[in-house]
Amino acid sequence: MPLDLVLGSQWGDEGKGRITDSLARQAKIVARFSGGDNAGHTVTVAERRYQLHLIPSGIIHEHSLCVMGSGMVVNPTTLIAEIKELQAAGVDINPGRLLISLSAHMITPGHLALDAAEEGARGSARLGTTKRGIGPSYTHKAARQGLRLEALLSVQENIPRFRQHLEASNRMLERIYEQDGLDIQHAIETLQSQAEFLAPYLADTGQVLDQALRQGQRVVGEGAQGTLLDLDHGTYPYVTSSHPTTAGALLGLGIGPQYLDRIIGVTKAFQTRVGEGPFPTELHDELAERLRGSGANPWDEFGTTTGRPRRCGWLDLVLLRYAHRINGFTELAITKLDILSGLPLLMLCVAYKRNGSEWEDLSDGLSSLESCEPVMEEQSAWAEVISRAREWRDLPLPARDYLETIESAANVPIKMVSVGPERDQLLYR
Ligand code: GDP
Ligand code: IMO
Ligand code: MG
Repeated sequence: MPLDLVLGSQWGDEGKGRITDSLARQAKIVARFSGGDNAGHTVTVAERRYQLHLIPSGIIHEHSLCVMGSGMVVNPTTLIAEIKELQAAGVDINPGRLLISLSAHMITPGHLALDAAEEGARGSARLGTTKRGIGPSYTHKAARQGLRLEALLSVQENIPRFRQHLEASNRMLERIYEQDGLDIQHAIETLQSQAEFLAPYLADTGQVLDQALRQGQRVVGEGAQGTLLDLDHGTYPYVTSSHPTTAGALLGLGIGPQYLDRIIGVTKAFQTRVGEGPFPTELHDELAERLRGSGANPWDEFGTTTGRPRRCGWLDLVLLRYAHRINGFTELAITKLDILSGLPLLMLCVAYKRNGSEWEDLSDGLSSLESCEPVMEEQSAWAEVISRAREWRDLPLPARDYLETIESAANVPIKMVSVGPERDQLLYR
C-alpha cells in the first residue's frame, strides 16, 4: 500500500520537513493536507537551507509532483512569494509540478487582520498564534462563509462575495476591535492579479491522488504542526484550527484509508513548544538554554515562521503514548538526538502525578495537563558527538538505551534517527 504519512507527535517543529525530504526520494507525490503558512519546514541540502511554509518539501526533488490538499488554508500573497523565492533559488515550480486543491480555503487580508486583532483582545489569555490568519480562515470555513480557491477561476463573478467578506471583516475590526478597516478596493485589485497567477495551479487534487494511489504510485503525506496542536485532540484552546493527525490527513487529502502504509510519528528527542499553553516538562534554567541553543546554529530552537524562541523541556512519554493513541503510528522517527550529546543531565517524563496518584496515561485527555506534575526518570547521558553516526551501532550505548526506553514506553518501533539536519545525517534501522 503506497501512502505514507509524516506526522508531528508533539507541538510542531519536530523535523517533519527533513523526514519528508528523505522519504520524497522514493515517492511520486508529496502532499500537504492541513494548515497553512503557520508551518515552517526546513530542508538542508549541503550549504542550502530551504524554508517551506506552504509548498510541500518534495518540491526540492526534481522528480516529485507536489500537492496542496483541500484541508489547507492558503494565503495567495505568501504562496506567490514562496513560489517566486524558490524559483529564484533554482527550484523548478510550474503548474505541472505543483497542484493546489480547488477546495482549499483562502486566507484573506481580512483573516490576517482579525487574527492579530483577536490575539490583541485576548490580552494575557493570548494563544500565541502565528498571526497568519489561520484561525479566522478555518472559522469562516466551518461557518460556511469561507472563500475556496476555486473562486479564483472566475474571479470577476466572485468579486461581490470577496467584497462582502471584506466589508464584514471591516465591521468587526472597526466596531468590535476599534481598529482601522482595510482598503477594500486595493485588496480586490490585488486578488484579481493573484488569480491570474494561481489559476493554472488549481486542480481536483483528491482525484489526482486517488488515481496515483490506485496505480500503486507512492505518495507521502507531509503533516504540518503536531498532534498536541490538533483542534480536537490537542491542548485546547492552545491549539491550531486544523487536524494535523492521521484522520486529518485523509480528510485533507480527500482520499480513503485503504492505501495507508506507514504512519510515521516524527518525535524530537526532547520537547519544544512555541506559543502559549501547558507544557509539563518545560525547563527554565540553563538546561533549557542548552536545548534551545543561542541562535548561532540554523537548527537552534527559534521559530522558522515567526523567529520566536521555542520553549524547551524533556521528552514527555505520557504525551507520546497519547499521540500514538490518536494517530496509530506504525513507527517513530527521532530527530535532533545530536543535541543531547554532552548534556550534564538527561531526563524523561514517564508518568504524571495528580491528587496523590501516579498515572502513566491521561485518564481525562489533555484538559487536565495544567494540574499534572511530571514524574521524571534520570537517563544515562553521553558525551560523544554523534553527528557522524550512520548506523545504530555507531551510537554510544546510553544513546541506544535512551532510544530503546522511548520505543518500549511508546510501544512503537523507532525506524529512523536523525543526528543532524543534513540529508545524510539520518540512520535507518
Ligand atoms: P518541522 O516544522 O517539523 O519541519 O521542523 P522545523 O524545520 O521547523 O524545525 C526543525 C529544525 O531542526 C530545522 O532547523 C531542521 O533543519 C533541524 N533539524 C532537523 N533534524 C535535525 C537533527 O537531527 N539535528 C539537528 N541538529 N537539527 C535538525
Ligand atoms: P510546523 O509545521 C510549531 C502553533 C502556534 C500557536 C498555535 C496556534 O512548522 O511544525 P496558529 O497560527 O496555527 O493559529 O497558532 O499553534 N503553531 C505551530 N507551532 N510549529 C508549527 O508548524 C506551528 N503551527 C502553528 O505557535 O501556539
Ligand atoms: Mg516548523
